[in-house]
Amino acid sequence: MLPTKSMSAGTFPIQKIRADFPILSRKVNGKPLIYFDNGATAQKPQAVINAITHYYTHQNANIHRGVHTLSQELTVVYENARATIQKHINAKNPHEIIFTKGTTDSINLVATSFGKKFISEGDEIIVSAMEHHSNILPWQQLCIEKGATLKVIPINESGELMLDEYKNLLTDNTKLVAITHISNVLGTINPLEQIIEWAHSRNIPVLVDGAQAVPHTIVDVQKLDADFYCFSSHKLFGPTGVGILYGKEKYLNAMPPYQVGGGTIKTVSFDKTEYADLPLKFEAGTPHIEGAIGLAAAINYINEIGLSAISQYENELLEYATRALNKIEGVKIIGTSKNKASVISFVVEAIHNFDIGTILDQLGIAVRTGHHCTQPLMQCYQIQGTVRASFAFYNTTEEIDFFIEALLKAISMLK
Ligand code: ALA
Repeated sequence: MLPTKSMSAGTFPIQKIRADFPILSRKVNGKPLIYFDNGATAQKPQAVINAITHYYTHQNANIHRGVHTLSQELTVVYENARATIQKHINAKNPHEIIFTKGTTDSINLVATSFGKKFISEGDEIIVSAMEHHSNILPWQQLCIEKGATLKVIPINESGELMLDEYKNLLTDNTKLVAITHISNVLGTINPLEQIIEWAHSRNIPVLVDGAQAVPHTIVDVQKLDADFYCFSSHKLFGPTGVGILYGKEKYLNAMPPYQVGGGTIKTVSFDKTEYADLPLKFEAGTPHIEGAIGLAAAINYINEIGLSAISQYENELLEYATRALNKIEGVKIIGTSKNKASVISFVVEAIHNFDIGTILDQLGIAVRTGHHCTQPLMQCYQIQGTVRASFAFYNTTEEIDFFIEALLKAISMLK
């Protein structure tokens, strides 16, 4: 039984929700698990586990290939999953939803395919200083291959994009802007509307890395007017190994296939091959059927709770944890943007982030430590890494209290 969409954060039925996630009742190192590594991957509700089990128990077949009943039934289930995702991010058409392996794969698809068609020598691509390596390396590689230039939007000390600098980076040579929606380290929620509007005023398409955004906030790709929007299922309480590339039809139609093979064609001969229409043109091989089904189940689950209630509740967790961390001597939060999601990175004076993470783990607390696949961002702050606590809607203020106590213990042991 889940709460309704209109529920306020004050009445958030946290215990009911926690009971939906079986892993939350396990112990780690003899202590109750406190899972604050949701930015790396989120835990799975029973509804997702059940959907996957049901699929293997009752529905397994291959799709788009069979005249037999199982295949036809499952093709409908798979395409319904696509429609669930389309509706969830308010894409105009189901064929603008491409199943990929995850955010990284989605970005690589665009870099390779859009890059082949639209990027040439002398062109420029813009990213920001707070990008995950997955939204830097495909563009860096493309620029090397094509003789194009990668430009970087700088950030200020709070971890916000310097928008005036961004405006100045846009030129007649700019062919694409690739930007994260929410930083996986800083938690900064970027002003996408402004970024996209300025790019579009010069007819430049914008790709958004939404990996850290979809678990926390409502995404409406039409309202944003994003040209490409990428995310992973596993951070959205679904299975690993599957993700989404949303792309505007006009771009996806113009782009050549990324990988080719079974499923991507209309006709093949040794003289000429005609490729399939969207979305199959971009889905080579037997897809991650289990992943699509699990992701749709995850989306249905979070929609029963409601993303606005989730955002409100997670904001309370963020404020609660920020207040507590700010009281600890020697702790410095990295990323203090006014507009933030429930991700807190911090450093502790004279103590290595790895040592803190190791002691917290002994106390049952899972956080991420290190550079978080954002080495250029670490270079901006002149640090090696941070400790990162990233919260989901199944976390609680009691867990934060325990985490703060454990952190104080770790600091006193390591000083
Ligand atoms: N990109 C994921 C993270 O930030 C893995 O932890």
